[in-house]
Amino acid sequence: MKFIICKDYDEMSRAAADVISDLVAAQPDCTLGLATGSTPIGLYAELVKDCADGKISFKDVDTYNLDEYRGLPADHVQSYHYFMKDNLFDHVDIDQSRTHVPDGSNPDAQAACAEYEAAIKAHGGVDLQLLGLGHNGHIGFNEPNTEFVKETNCVDLTESTITANSRLFDSIDQVPTQAYTMGIGTIMAAKKILVVANGEGKADIVAQAFFGPVTPQVPASVLQFHPDVTVVVDAAAGSKCPQQ
Ligand code: F6R
Repeated sequence: MKFIICKDYDEMSRAAADVISDLVAAQPDCTLGLATGSTPIGLYAELVKDCADGKISFKDVDTYNLDEYRGLPADHVQSYHYFMKDNLFDHVDIDQSRTHVPDGSNPDAQAACAEYEAAIKAHGGVDLQLLGLGHNGHIGFNEPNTEFVKETNCVDLTESTITANSRLFDSIDQVPTQAYTMGIGTIMAAKKILVVANGEGKADIVAQAFFGPVTPQVPASVLQFHPDVTVVVDAAAGSKCPQQ
């Protein structure tokens, strides 16, 4: 595991963007697994700059997002599909027919998840999967559990996740209580994994996930078993980690 502690959020965003930019430059038809949330917003802004500067092109890139709220259609302002358009897809030269997000508008959870998992496999998998880290150690929406769920699945969001995500909704009652998410197995199948985390509030979980025991109670801890993981954090999120 490569563990990089940056000075601040901007440096973290640039360092993580470099990992993605370098891959897109070297392999212009690569497949990226993408994440939403507050953490990667700066990183996406850096990728938009790289594309505007002609350093990289997304025209042959395919993307598969980690997750989507169950019940939100793609054009809902709080959907993850909308987030991706707003933060990346509408600002780069990507072919939007090659971008994929689980179909939150499909009420048939089993079908929606099975179709997404099959689509990723049929495509040949993901070259680089970007991940943020939940305060409870979730990756995608794989919440603390008694097992590592393998494939794309429908999850009940925990109270802590609903509370954390309510900042983006008008009220907590509007936060969906379920989501479709790639499974831990889907995530672990990516060739390369890039994790970003920032802020003091993530310091405990960063230390537990990457330096503590591997347990489904801290889903991100399984990444310690992946052969190619880069973790990029700011100084605050890295402050409780053992000396590097
Ligand atoms: C988002 C996702 C989540 C977030 C995590 C951290 O697609 O899958 O696992 O990465 O909840 O969110 P932020 O970055 O908002 O702290």
